[in-house]
Amino acid sequence: MRILVTGGAGFIGSNFIRYMLARHPDYQIINLDKLTYSGNLENLSDIHTRKSEVVNRKPTHNSQLTSLSYRFIKGDICDTKLVNGLVKDGIDVIVNFAAESHVDRSIMDAGVFINTNVLGAHVLLEAAKKHPVKKFIQISTDEVYGSLGSDGYFTENTLIAPNSPYSASKASADLLVRAYHHTYNLPVIITRSSNNYGPYQFPEKVIPLFITNALADVPLPLYGNGLNIRDWLYVEDHCRAIDLVIEKGKEGEVYNIGGNCEKTNLEITKTILKRLGKPEGLIKYVRDRPGHDRRYAIDSTKIQRELGWSPRYTFEDRIDKTIEWYIENESWWKKIKSGEYQEYYDKMYGESRES
Ligand code: NAD
Ligand code: TYD
Repeated sequence: MRILVTGGAGFIGSNFIRYMLARHPDYQIINLDKLTYSGNLENLSDIHTRKSEVVNRKPTHNSQLTSLSYRFIKGDICDTKLVNGLVKDGIDVIVNFAAESHVDRSIMDAGVFINTNVLGAHVLLEAAKKHPVKKFIQISTDEVYGSLGSDGYFTENTLIAPNSPYSASKASADLLVRAYHHTYNLPVIITRSSNNYGPYQFPEKVIPLFITNALADVPLPLYGNGLNIRDWLYVEDHCRAIDLVIEKGKEGEVYNIGGNCEKTNLEITKTILKRLGKPEGLIKYVRDRPGHDRRYAIDSTKIQRELGWSPRYTFEDRIDKTIEWYIENESWWKKIKSGEYQEYYDKMYGESRES
């Protein structure tokens, strides 16, 4: 099986590539990534090292190395010529992770979100139309459904009602993907997962941001009253769900993927501080995010019933492992936080966002 993974140098994409190469050593994976601020080849350094060992034919006693089939291509999913060339070469499955993924950035500047998330998805769909693939998996998000009140869950039949430029761009791509199935019979599947956490997540998203701030004794900027709710999913559980969708998912369908783990942001914050032995005085309430969605909660009954998936990991266990990972990989996040990210952070949390 030849899989084109887009955005494979980001958080979920890199975890997915590692997961797939470990479970399916016979698969060939091509990783197309533009390496934007959130794309980082260090997320795949173990795989790149193994790959170069194979290419250089260094003696090794690990027989799996000889069959490692992985290629990285630096490029933009909006580059029609590049994408067509890759898909024309013979691709069985496209898994589209490539995206601008952060809500706060989309509020500051939506343009690049439209380019990558909508126009980029269109380029991939056109390539798959010209050079047929067996499956086109669009990695989407529960945020396309908008916000819930204090009860109820998002099902695959919930109406799409995105509230941020980010979620609107993801919803637009979902609609295009759906239309390419309806109109051209493209074998598409859309997955909509809840908030992921785990290793290699860029430290602008709340969990890695708060862990790394707490480690550095820097305040944790909690939006509004901290009572907004997200449904947390460990990234490896998400990867396993996508693997199943590739194998057994039905064309034209949407699958919701949730962690069955609702937490307020305040609960998450307190958990992180407690696990690190840091004082709650580090919590700094700041002005709320404009249009901040109140609650996300996913009903995953469909993927459970049809594909036999359910999350394996508990939050209590995996948050500890995640915190450990950030402690052990300090140089990974320190490099990020001391570079370009710092400018963004200053812009976000400078005087203007004080509550
Ligand atoms: P991320 O920001 O960590 O990674 C995105 C990757 O896409 C980066 O490697 C980046 O370089 C690459 N990229 C961006 N623009 C590109 C372009 N034009 N061409 C090629 N590559 C490009 O994001 P993530 O958290 O790993 O999210 C991956 C996907 O999963 C996204 O589509 C996102 O909408 C979706 N998703 C994320 C979450 C979450 O909690 N993180 C939840 C649900 C869905
Ligand atoms: P985030 O990780 O940005 O994911 P998303 O907006 O896609 O759900 O944010 C998760 C929650 O944490 C969201 O309710 C906003 C909140 N949040 C803060 O309170 N402070 C922060 O600094 C960030 C980045 C997020």
